[in-house]
Amino acid sequence: MKALGVGILGLGNVGAGTVRLLAEHRARIEARLGVPLTIRRVLVRDRARERAVDVAPELLTTDIEDVLGDPNIAIVVELMGGVEPARSYILAALRAGKHVVTANKAVLAERGAEIFAEAARVGRAVVFEGSVAGGIPLLRSLREGLASDRITGLCGIVNGTSNYILDAMTRTGAGFADALAGAQAAGYAEADPTLDVGGGDAAHKLALLALVAFGVQVDPATIPTEGISHITAFDIRAAAELGFIIKSLAIGERDEHGVGLRVHPTLVPRGHVLAGVQGAFNAVLVQSDALGPSLYYGRGAGMMPTAVAVVSDILEVARDLLAGLYSRPGPTGQVPSAIPAPIALRPLADVVCAHYLR
Ligand code: NDP
Ligand code: HSE
Repeated sequence: MKALGVGILGLGNVGAGTVRLLAEHRARIEARLGVPLTIRRVLVRDRARERAVDVAPELLTTDIEDVLGDPNIAIVVELMGGVEPARSYILAALRAGKHVVTANKAVLAERGAEIFAEAARVGRAVVFEGSVAGGIPLLRSLREGLASDRITGLCGIVNGTSNYILDAMTRTGAGFADALAGAQAAGYAEADPTLDVGGGDAAHKLALLALVAFGVQVDPATIPTEGISHITAFDIRAAAELGFIIKSLAIGERDEHGVGLRVHPTLVPRGHVLAGVQGAFNAVLVQSDALGPSLYYGRGAGMMPTAVAVVSDILEVARDLLAGLYSRPGPTGQVPSAIPAPIALRPLADVVCAHYLR
């Protein structure tokens, strides 16, 4: 029985979690697929660095060609983060005939059109469940579970670090800097945490949510975005006295006039379901025509929660690969069937999302 080879780019928080989960579930994965999954190479910057998981030293490499040039690697898992060289490596992997799994929302939000077009051209999958809301199967639910419905709005907490900080400031009176340090120590924050506290990470995720939920391509730089770094203990106390909890929300709506998206700190009534979301948990309320409201809640960041999404994506690609799906022409995986033209956002009314927040 021939093993299916996997190459992993990056062995930080999510990469280590992915390696650990693949090892822990080795027997179940083999039973499910009918063939073993084998990690053949792991790309890092520094081979000598201490790792959170045991990896045979001979698997570690600093040369991307060791991954791209291995004919036994069918699936490349990109967990490095950032736009470059992630973009170049993903494109090179697709051109080398590999399928790609990634949790990197920055590269997909900023260069997704190019990546999805290349994947469709070469008939390879790009799957990215881990890129939005960590371990919560949110994109899969929007893409598959609500495929028969029309999504009109979504509203929620999609940055675990910001929620961790605001929650710590609210419940324990922690200072901003200490709370951010806690989120970093727990492995929730981006390598550049200004993406978290500045709202950029949530804007990247909202652009991907808009692609999957509304079928539109949006430049994340055009999403009105306000972070949380200016929120003070005084703001939090004043909000509490008025009956509100401050949460950083990503908000999207579409109607006959177009799509509106934005990210900003929001006064959420204390009794609202989003007000009770603690730590690095995420929660997203989705509004669709036939179903009405639905809620997606769980661990939105961290090593093992995100590894769940990544390994599930690997299993999805492996299953389709073994079923011969990729020998048929046409777009595959989570690649949109047609890459939409970029759209300009319409302004959101001030009361947008109010019907979710009542
Ligand atoms: P880390 O910073 O912990 O790990 C990044 C890894 O990538 C490191 O092992 C690093 O190598 C390697 N790497 C970075 N640049 C290069 C390069 N140029 N060449 C080779 N290796 C490189 O990041 P995370 O694991 O936290 O995040 C990875 C991705 O997952 C990001 O896109 C992030 O947004 C996303 N994500 C993260 C979540 C989280 O909770 N942390 C949740 C959901 C998604 P070395 O160790 O040698 O420095
Ligand atoms: N830095 C991100 C967050 C990781 O805090 O939500 C999960 O995407």
